[in-house]
Amino acid sequence: MGTDCFFLLFFFVLVLNFDITQAQIPGFISFDCGGQSNFTDDLGLEWTPDNQIIYGITSKISVTNETRQQYQTVRYFPADNRKYCYTLNVKSRTRYLIRATFLYGNFDNNNVYPKFDISMGPTRWATIVISDANIIESQELIFLASDSAVSVCLSNATTGQPFISTLELRPFNGSIYLTPFENQFFLGVSARINFGAENEDPVRYPDDPFDRIWQSDLVKKANYLVDVAPGTDRISTKSPIDTRKDEQPPEKVMQTAVVGRTGMLTYRMNLDGFPGFGWAYTYFAEIEDMGPTETRKFRLVLPGAPELSKAVVNIQENAQGTHRLYEPGYENISLPFVLSFKFGKTSDSTQGPLVNAIEISKYLKISDGSFDGAVAASLVSGYKSLDWAQEGGDPCLPVAWSWLECNLDSEPKIISVKLSGKNLTGRIPSDLTKLNSLEQLWLDGNALTGPIPDFTGCPNLKIIHLENNQLSGDLPLSLADIPNLSQLYLQNNLLTGEVPSSLLNKNLVLNYTGNANLNKGSNGGRQSRNIIIGLVIGATALFLGFLTSCLLLRRRKIYSKTEPKHSMPVMSNAATETAQSFTLFELRNATKNFANKVGSGGYGTVYYGKLNDGKEIAVKILENNNVYQGKKEFANEVSLLSRIHHRNLVQFLGFCQEEGKDILVYEFMHNGTLKEHLYGPKARDRGVKWIKRLEIAEESAKGFMLLFYATYTILNKFHSFEEGLIKKNQDLIANRYANLGTSHVSSIVRGTVGYLDPEYYISNRLTDKTDIYSFGVILLELISGQEAISNENFGINCRNIVQWAKTHIENGDIQGIIDPSLGNEYDIQSMWKIAEKALMCVQPHGNMRPSMSEVIKEIQDAILIEKEVEMAARECRSDEISRHLILNMGSLDLMSNGQDFSMDESFTRPGAR
Ligand SMILES: *[C@@H]1O[C@H](CO)[C@@H](O)[C@H](O)[C@H]1NC(C)=O
Ligand SMILES: *[C@@H]1O[C@H](CO)[C@@H](O)[C@H](O)[C@H]1NC(C)=O
Ligand SMILES: *[C@@H]1O[C@H](CO)[C@@H](O)[C@H](O)[C@H]1NC(C)=O
Ligand SMILES: *[C@@H]1O[C@H](CO)[C@@H](O)[C@H](O)[C@H]1NC(C)=O
Ligand SMILES: *[C@@H]1O[C@H](CO)[C@@H](O)[C@H](O)[C@H]1NC(C)=O
Ligand SMILES: *[C@@H]1O[C@H](CO)[C@@H](O)[C@H](O)[C@H]1NC(C)=O
Ligand SMILES: *[C@@H]1O[C@H](CO)[C@@H](O)[C@H](O)[C@H]1NC(C)=O
Repeated sequence: MGTDCFFLLFFFVLVLNFDITQAQIPGFISFDCGGQSNFTDDLGLEWTPDNQIIYGITSKISVTNETRQQYQTVRYFPADNRKYCYTLNVKSRTRYLIRATFLYGNFDNNNVYPKFDISMGPTRWATIVISDANIIESQELIFLASDSAVSVCLSNATTGQPFISTLELRPFNGSIYLTPFENQFFLGVSARINFGAENEDPVRYPDDPFDRIWQSDLVKKANYLVDVAPGTDRISTKSPIDTRKDEQPPEKVMQTAVVGRTGMLTYRMNLDGFPGFGWAYTYFAEIEDMGPTETRKFRLVLPGAPELSKAVVNIQENAQGTHRLYEPGYENISLPFVLSFKFGKTSDSTQGPLVNAIEISKYLKISDGSFDGAVAASLVSGYKSLDWAQEGGDPCLPVAWSWLECNLDSEPKIISVKLSGKNLTGRIPSDLTKLNSLEQLWLDGNALTGPIPDFTGCPNLKIIHLENNQLSGDLPLSLADIPNLSQLYLQNNLLTGEVPSSLLNKNLVLNYTGNANLNKGSNGGRQSRNIIIGLVIGATALFLGFLTSCLLLRRRKIYSKTEPKHSMPVMSNAATETAQSFTLFELRNATKNFANKVGSGGYGTVYYGKLNDGKEIAVKILENNNVYQGKKEFANEVSLLSRIHHRNLVQFLGFCQEEGKDILVYEFMHNGTLKEHLYGPKARDRGVKWIKRLEIAEESAKGFMLLFYATYTILNKFHSFEEGLIKKNQDLIANRYANLGTSHVSSIVRGTVGYLDPEYYISNRLTDKTDIYSFGVILLELISGQEAISNENFGINCRNIVQWAKTHIENGDIQGIIDPSLGNEYDIQSMWKIAEKALMCVQPHGNMRPSMSEVIKEIQDAILIEKEVEMAARECRSDEISRHLILNMGSLDLMSNGQDFSMDESFTRPGAR
């Protein structure tokens, strides 16, 4: 055989290759964003540069080990209020997969990790959050095209600049991914997993002719396929698999699987985009040779959904043979963010369960778009070559085109068109007269010709600018019928005839100078002309005032997004109330000369006191071993405590600096602080329940939001103090810095309370992101019941809660950090939510941390989950069968040990005064 066979094989391979590269892949569009030229990649996909788009800037990037040409460039856009859209031609009534990927690669040399939104036409698709410059973020959506084009837009830059690496469009065949909801919902792909994969590489084109990406179950990432049951075996086959039905998964995916040798398969994973309603399907094919007497029967078990566990899977029977696809699933199922699932064999089955692949997508409600969408589309279609007409997407959603303003209706209407000086030629587009809610129309400074159309279809018009064009014909009488028209500018056109008296008699600003053949009309004489001009001038003054205020108001409404974030004027008072400067004399009086010591530790000794007004206080005298270090800590603690101002933590009242003493004054709490409840002596007999902790977190978070201003005021006070001090101790400080060199940062960190943002030590600037860090630490404390800093509790070489928790959470081991005193009285989903958010909060770089409002949202979601579980548990209690099912889920035990989730009243009450 030898050579002949070899040549045959060689020829075969050649043909195959030929097939791949030459195959017209109908409907595939692959944009290499920022790229320069067409190319075909190793998979046989043909990439084209995205140079059709006139916006954005291209940049080269370089990421270690990333050699694919489409990931050598990006296109990025300004971080402004606009949206930047790609328009892709599609075939109406065809289903597509669209995939956008993002590899940051530090294209702007800024290391500011971008965060922005991506939308599909008017529908919000996802928020892209970059958290690693070298990792590709990817989003996939499955949709039914309802038109001949779709647009994908980037907008709402929260940090950094929006950018994109690739945009891929893949059509499906026949009824793949048909759902009864496809006219109202997109499918946002959350997971598509190939079990028993050969290696970590995903399976995609050409193995999958539709180029779906089937992620390997071997990939390691946070909370992805953890809690795998022992005895989970990986199996594979070379035999062909018949997959030609339903979603037609690729054969290569179906040729591998996992089998639960001990009778079960278990997994837990995060589902991005969830909780929500989704589409979830499982792909099975019997690929193991079983003896004639052997059977494989199993059930899916989902925590909290016992009714879904009834159906028994018998792959061979359901698929009518081995090596054939069986694809059961749920067309509409409610799924959590943290999904735990299990396949367990039935008692009469000899073999454990087997699974080849799963796929889960979330239903995303399709936005109806703007009310004026069709009119606007028709309007811009007349000016295809002009840049303002190429902004793409919906005119108002998610943000308006740069030359439009829209109202805030759920189906927004266009209220202002500003096309001054845009080189418009031809007639005034009649589409404009169909914008029923239009209030302002600016078309001045163009080269428009022809008559003024009838604007009575826009009854809300107030301002019309048509000056400096070449408009001709008579002034239409209908202009006078627009009830609220207050300004009409017609100067320097070629208008003719007479100005209708109905218009002249209307109370409006009217200017028609510079129209040689336009006359004022016959019914008025010199006298009335004066009146008119007088009227006009009077009205101008009146309306200018009125309009300015209206415009300002409207602007505020529409562009509230662009306003400074912390415009909370109420807060300036709170600032002065929050931190007071006490005299040593006052404090001596209050504490009866520091007679009653109530505690020590945390860099000082605490004394009980009572102010003249009866308020009870705790006075903490900081230990000063070393002037500089002590002051620095003092600064930290003052600023920090004034930030963590909350009744459940401890209320910081003020400070005192006299006679070389640094003193902090807190409200005295009879019931102890949160700290004591969590890990003080009281903790043992009355632990704080999880839902209560969440509520504390929510309130504290709100407190944080309110206190931004307060904080900055205190700090300014403090910094001026510190400056004086620094001058006094200049030599000392100079020496310290010289000795410490660059390592001074870590030496200071060692001496602090553990809540402070590492970035703060470098920049010495406190920002709202510093607060987020501190708050993340508090969340970790609430989860774990551990103090932020401990010499013993976090293992060797780790004194800090952040590092400790991060390691556990990233390994999917959340149990390892949960406060044992919580017992089983929490829901693992709400715990995961908070744990993940906490980790985001303590990211080393401020720009990667979430905003406080996002954190609050997450806490509120977690509280909702807890409440739902609590209710479900109440309902379940009498139901022995479901109880049994739930208890069977091991760590996912949702029962509350028969106790009520009652709240500890004394704890909710504000500290006694
Ligand atoms: C690149 O590919 C596109 C789409 O296939 C084609 O229209 C275009 O002409 C190609 N450009 C070059 C320079 O080959
Ligand atoms: C790049 O690839 C080489 C060889 O496979 C590997 O040793 C190295 O760790 C990789 N580097 C990164 C940053 O992934
Ligand atoms: C912009 O993004 C921020 C943060 O992700 C979000 O809170 C806000 O609602 C978004 N704005 C719009 C208009 O979508
Ligand atoms: C799509 O369907 C057509 C006709 O049914 C078939 O010829 C074609 O090969 C299919 N394409 C793919 C990628 O399966
Ligand atoms: C799924 O089911 C829920 C509850 O029954 C329903 O509200 C929803 O409209 C259904 N469809 C989708 C796509 O969510
Ligand atoms: C208008 O057209 C002129 C001449 O073609 C050109 O120089 C100018 O840049 C254009 N202005 C705008 C706003 O497009
Ligand atoms: C009318 O417009 C002309 C030219 O734009 C201007 O010079 C004049 O001041 C305006 N008249 C009034 C009353 O506003």
